[in-house]
Amino acid sequence: MNRKVKTKKTGQPGKFKKTAPRTGRTGRTGKPASKKPSAVWDQAAQWYDTLVGLKGSEYQTAVIFPGALQLMRLKKGDRVLDLACGQGVYSRYLSQRKMKVTGLDTSEEMIRFAQSRSDPTIHFEHADAQDPQALPDKTFDAVVCLLALQNIESLLPVMRNVKRWLKPGGRFVMVTTHPCFRIPRQTHWGWDEQKKIQYRRVDLYGSESAIPILTPPFVDSQSFTVTYHRPLQSYFQALTEAGLCVDGLEEWASHKTSEPGQRSKAENRARQEIPLFMALRAVPSSD
Ligand SMILES: C[S@@+](CC[C@H](N)C(=O)[O-])C[C@H]1O[C@@H](n2cnc3c(N)ncnc32)[C@H](O)[C@@H]1O
Repeated sequence: MNRKVKTKKTGQPGKFKKTAPRTGRTGRTGKPASKKPSAVWDQAAQWYDTLVGLKGSEYQTAVIFPGALQLMRLKKGDRVLDLACGQGVYSRYLSQRKMKVTGLDTSEEMIRFAQSRSDPTIHFEHADAQDPQALPDKTFDAVVCLLALQNIESLLPVMRNVKRWLKPGGRFVMVTTHPCFRIPRQTHWGWDEQKKIQYRRVDLYGSESAIPILTPPFVDSQSFTVTYHRPLQSYFQALTEAGLCVDGLEEWASHKTSEPGQRSKAENRARQEIPLFMALRAVPSSD
């Protein structure tokens, strides 16, 4: 499990307060340590590859991969961009289902893992999802971004690129941990003894925030990734401004169940009631 480090909220909707782990201060200046996203994920790549492996983590294989596939409405031979593909686990899943896949990621290390684990028919691109030059326009029948928009600092350039890279009639599918209920350090499970229910507590939601999360191998204060929390309206605003129109939204619960015990019924109910992931499909709006 990740150890999380303290963060602060901005208090200003639409603006991120950039924070670094408390331990992430440079010795001499005392200024907060900051790193490019590529470097952040390069150092986490080995850990992430071990976590996800060849076929995906439990949540990915049970919930996310089949759910995203269904939302994309693909047919065999479609061209799909796996945006922020990491070590390529979903690119492989799609390729096995006869799609023509391109995976793009900003981390050179992640791309190295992706290439070493995948069939050469999958094309991997080392580039920033925010760079409009990264790929040719109107290339893909679908763009999919799994568990990664929450790790990208600016939404709007990414959404503009998605619109740019999709063919007319294409689909964009994004999956994030649920922005309302799964905010690192700001949401927690609680137990109401009187009602005998498990509840979800949400301390902060409306402010955007950048939350550094320490990641294995915890070698030093630089071993962290950043999760960008955004309320739902931020996603909708960026999609709309980029010319993408939401035509599907699903909220996915965890597939897990508790071991039998005094609270297991309440825990299972809470797990079903409070979704773990949000999945959204958007299509280019007619200009
Ligand atoms: C949590 S991983 C998810 C990887 C993969 N989609 C999966 O489901 O396993 C987040 C990924 O986002 C990538 N990423 C972060 N910022 C990016 C950017 N600006 N452009 C492209 N990829 C980025 C990271 O390098 C990392 O591989």
